Amino acid sequence: MKISVLSELTPSQLSHAAALPLCTEDISKDAPLPGLPKDIAKGVREWVQHTGFNANAREFSLCTLHTPRGRLDIFLLGCGPEPALHAGILRVAGGRAAMEARRLAINNVDLFLSHSERFANPKPWVRAFTTGFIEGTYHIRKSANAKPSALSIKALRIVTGSKSQLVIARDESVRGAEIGGTINRIRDIANRPGNEAPPRVIARESQKIAKSCGLKYSAWNRAELKRQRCNSILAVAQGSKEEPYLIQLTYPGRKRKLPPLVVVGKTITFDTGGISLKPGKNMEWMKFDKSGGMAVLAFMSLVGAVLKPDRPVIGLLAAAENMPGSTATRPGDVITSRNGKTIEIINTDAEGRLVLADALDVASGLNPACIIDFATLTGAALVALGRQVSAIMSNHAELSESLQKAGERTGDRLWPLPLYPEYAHLLNSPFADVKNIGDGTAGTIIGGMFLKAFVKPGIPWAHIDLTSAWEERPTSHGPAGATLFGAALLAEWLDSKGPETT
Ligand code: BES
Ligand code: ZN
Ligand code: ZN
Repeated sequence: MKISVLSELTPSQLSHAAALPLCTEDISKDAPLPGLPKDIAKGVREWVQHTGFNANAREFSLCTLHTPRGRLDIFLLGCGPEPALHAGILRVAGGRAAMEARRLAINNVDLFLSHSERFANPKPWVRAFTTGFIEGTYHIRKSANAKPSALSIKALRIVTGSKSQLVIARDESVRGAEIGGTINRIRDIANRPGNEAPPRVIARESQKIAKSCGLKYSAWNRAELKRQRCNSILAVAQGSKEEPYLIQLTYPGRKRKLPPLVVVGKTITFDTGGISLKPGKNMEWMKFDKSGGMAVLAFMSLVGAVLKPDRPVIGLLAAAENMPGSTATRPGDVITSRNGKTIEIINTDAEGRLVLADALDVASGLNPACIIDFATLTGAALVALGRQVSAIMSNHAELSESLQKAGERTGDRLWPLPLYPEYAHLLNSPFADVKNIGDGTAGTIIGGMFLKAFVKPGIPWAHIDLTSAWEERPTSHGPAGATLFGAALLAEWLDSKGPETT
């Protein structure tokens, strides 16, 4: 898809479809809608009056005008009241615009941002809209040799209204397209079911991605994990015939002596719960228990191919399958994790924290500037926060705040939960240093407290418990399946201050 940015578009240059993000303030009678060709502004105003379109966030209306130049389809994209506007709303609007364009077999779309002062500064709107627009073009391939859809959008033109910001807007649109494109590429892996994407396949795909993005690839298999005393990862994998892998992707950076940023992803390729078996209903979604790792993979691919920071960046994917085979761990089993702490496994379904325990210990040994982990760790996070926002827990206030701010600028929003020392006793075990579950209260925080015990003290660390790593049905702005929540957030965070915030 060709994406271009212009300061204005005369009526004769218009495509046959336009996207128009509108806040509720824009649709009052006297709001001028400058920056739109006059007859279009008038047509939109009449349409809004006629249909009662309110411009609520996610509201959509297809406004068709018959102009002297022919038919013009205008996507009215509701963005809600201006004070509550954030980048996520524009990202969703972008997705919706692409979905509608595909539905109507439209090849060229003009996005207008010229009708309101609020978009005059292109950050973060252009990046968010473009990311969402590209994400909205994604479709699940139902078989490996399925033909690419004929419904492809050829061009997106972004009309900014402001000449002085043109260069920034262009850069932001390029970055947005790179982020959206990378997310879509990794979605092809993330959407694969458990049988098609066991840890060895994730390792192979990671190696391919690494090769194409200029990253170094290495992986520890079962034998190497044994040598490295990663007993906690091995314990999770021991009920499965699939070999676990700790996959490492390294971007060396120009200043290779600087302490690296280390990102870690829970990559359980299927979570049955193990001997603490999950109920059958809805278990199929546990193919998305690798989502943390998939977000890390997408981020690392962006690091190598486009972000190219000075500082080294390392991605770790702790990949295993959690199965209830005859060799599986039993409730009550005690293991010795890589950092020497003993763990009593009370519930084999709390496996994410076990693979992460060893991965965080490996990360701690890399002299990191900071560590950020992503994981579908607890169902409790979804209960507490819903799909609208994921949970962040951290031992470092500035790191947590900077990640939250990057979340607001991308739509991958985060909300903090505390890791007070008063929670720690809930993990006490009579038989080991810690047990892997608490008493059922504060499930998400307990997950965070457990992980904290495996990060070397003094290292800034943040843990993100994902609530919206996948969609169970197609949404207004994208297909069902993996969302790669976290990839855009990390890219934005690194692009701004990144590890310098710690
Ligand atoms: N992968 C699940 C958490 C999960 C479930 C995330 C559903 C998203 C949707 C995790 O491994 C798990 O099973 N956690 C347990 C922890 C409990 C045993 C302390 C949970 O959430 O029930
Ligand atoms: Zn589990
Ligand atoms: Zn899990």
